[in-house]
Amino acid sequence: MLSEQMNEALNVQANRELYSSYLYLSMSYYFESIRMLGFASWMRVQAGEELVHTMKMLDYVASAGGRAKMLAVEAPQLSWASPGAAFQHVWNHERAVTGLIHALVNVAIAEEDEATKSFLQWYVDEQVEEEESSDDVLNKVKAAGNDSAALQAADRELGSRRFKFPRDFEIFPYAALQGRTIGSLKK
Ligand SMILES: [Fe+2]
Ligand SMILES: [Fe+2]
Repeated sequence: MLSEQMNEALNVQANRELYSSYLYLSMSYYFESIRMLGFASWMRVQAGEELVHTMKMLDYVASAGGRAKMLAVEAPQLSWASPGAAFQHVWNHERAVTGLIHALVNVAIAEEDEATKSFLQWYVDEQVEEEESSDDVLNKVKAAGNDSAALQAADRELGSRRFKFPRDFEIFPYAALQGRTIGSLKK
């Protein structure tokens, strides 16, 4: 069973994950508007992953007997000065999210909530990957600089990224919903 404080902290983080999805979707349409469709596609995959992060966290809250609450989502920035500025923003954003995840782990540790701490390990590992990939794409885009042929090559390369659901996540998990603790349904 989740404490009120842990429940609240997880709802707030789920909201930040949804904001991340919204931010990357905003970047995707920004890139579409400047006809960099590979970058737009990469951002769309990124937005999809963040939606999975959101639902996975809220699913945990519900299955642990807590209550998933939807909070207002902040409006993201709508455009960027250049592709490099957008990818720098991704890099900064992912580092900030890592800090939030680590703070959440510390709440679980302080509460001796082993189940939540173990659940959050997936996010800790995910952030290692997110930092690595944002570092990688930022370096590519920075290396291209203002050279439009190099930027177009990077755009094509990033466009090859495909979305994959994590193995333990289902977006329409009717069976999983039926198996959930009744505590989450009563509140
Ligand atoms: Fe995330
Ligand atoms: Fe992320």
